[in-house]
Amino acid sequence: MEEVEEAPSARHRPLGQPASRPEPITQIAASEDDRLLTEIGEFDRVLGGGIVPGSVVLIGGDPGIGKSTLLLQASDAISRIYGTVLYVSGEESVTQTKLRANRLGITSDSLYVLCENNIEQIETHIMQLNPYAVVIDSIQTVYRPELQSAPGSITQIRESAAQLLIIAKGKNIPIILVGHVTREGSLAGPRILEHMVDTVLYFEGERQHVYRVLRAVKNRFGSTNEIGIFEMLSQGLAEVKNPSELFISERQENTSGSVVVSSIEGTRPLLLELQALVAPATFGIPRNTTTGVDRHRIALLIAVLQKRVGLDIGDSDVFVNITGGMRVDEPGIDLGIVMAITSNHRDIAIDSRTVIIGEVGLGGEVRAVTHIEKRLREAAKLGFNRAIFPEYNRKGLELKEDIDLIGVQDLYGALSASL
Ligand code: TYD
Ligand code: MG
Repeated sequence: MEEVEEAPSARHRPLGQPASRPEPITQIAASEDDRLLTEIGEFDRVLGGGIVPGSVVLIGGDPGIGKSTLLLQASDAISRIYGTVLYVSGEESVTQTKLRANRLGITSDSLYVLCENNIEQIETHIMQLNPYAVVIDSIQTVYRPELQSAPGSITQIRESAAQLLIIAKGKNIPIILVGHVTREGSLAGPRILEHMVDTVLYFEGERQHVYRVLRAVKNRFGSTNEIGIFEMLSQGLAEVKNPSELFISERQENTSGSVVVSSIEGTRPLLLELQALVAPATFGIPRNTTTGVDRHRIALLIAVLQKRVGLDIGDSDVFVNITGGMRVDEPGIDLGIVMAITSNHRDIAIDSRTVIIGEVGLGGEVRAVTHIEKRLREAAKLGFNRAIFPEYNRKGLELKEDIDLIGVQDLYGALSASL
């Protein structure tokens, strides 16, 4: 959609703010302890250990995925711990918000709800109420009255966000913006904010499933790719504290094509079940179908298997699936993919208490991965007694846990260790 570019309006300084001045860096008071904690552990961790005052956080996600639910719960928590929080709802009336709050069991006296779309009004209320944090649900509904374009247009979104950014920095309070964005980015609006804000989180999941993943894709104050996992229940979102346990819980033992892999998501290791199915091509033309993993990566690994191991799957359809609706974009699961495909093709199950870790190179070599100790420890903790892992990772490895380590250097080594 083409839009007429309007001249950016003067970015006025919030009333009462002194003019800026340079300060010696050693004299600036700032500490990690200033972060606001919601005590919703999964939420705080994804933010890098709580919300930094003065920061602007964008939470994107499909309509209906649970953004309002999450933020109402977080607002409630912050208001109970610190004091006044302002929740600006531009999409739902205060009554609708109250009904949702009732369902969620929210009773905090310090949580204020405002139904308003005009940014000037919102600013006035922030100045008067002096809250510890502000939520704007959603940025698409906010508008600056002096601009010609409609709420939700690129210009309105950008200009409103710019003003909120100034308010956040000026008052040193965090402002969380909700943005409806589909994974494909088809509602492109809020994506233009990604470079302006400090932190960008995406709330993802399949609406038919109860699991939701909160993922940091940009964070000036923490590591990106950090994820938090939640379950949507009738009383709102609940944290999933042991996601590895969850993702491997429905696994059937001794099924060919099923393996357990380890992925590092942000700072946390996660065990996942990966399944492969190799079947004669339906229409004569072999296809790869994947969920949760990149199709091009699978095509590459199939080519490596054919060329380096001579696996005869050129005429087959190959399906690869990560169970539980997770999406993984990490090379440490390569070896698991290759072994799952081979296991299913040969119809030999891999021992169900073995975890498989390693990146696979084009030469069929098994390459070292990051955070090997964390991965192995998580596996041992969940009862895995054997790991097939890159021999190159063995140097300097210190592990007290009881787990058999089978180091492999190439695909031959890996396949002969299990298949
Ligand atoms: P919502 O937070 O409104 O999504 P968003 O703000 O991202 O559009 O969540 C909407 C869905 O969540 C809705 O289909 C109902 C469901 N839901 C629950 O399952 N349990 C709850 O306690 C609440 C409040 C919502
Ligand atoms: Mg909503």
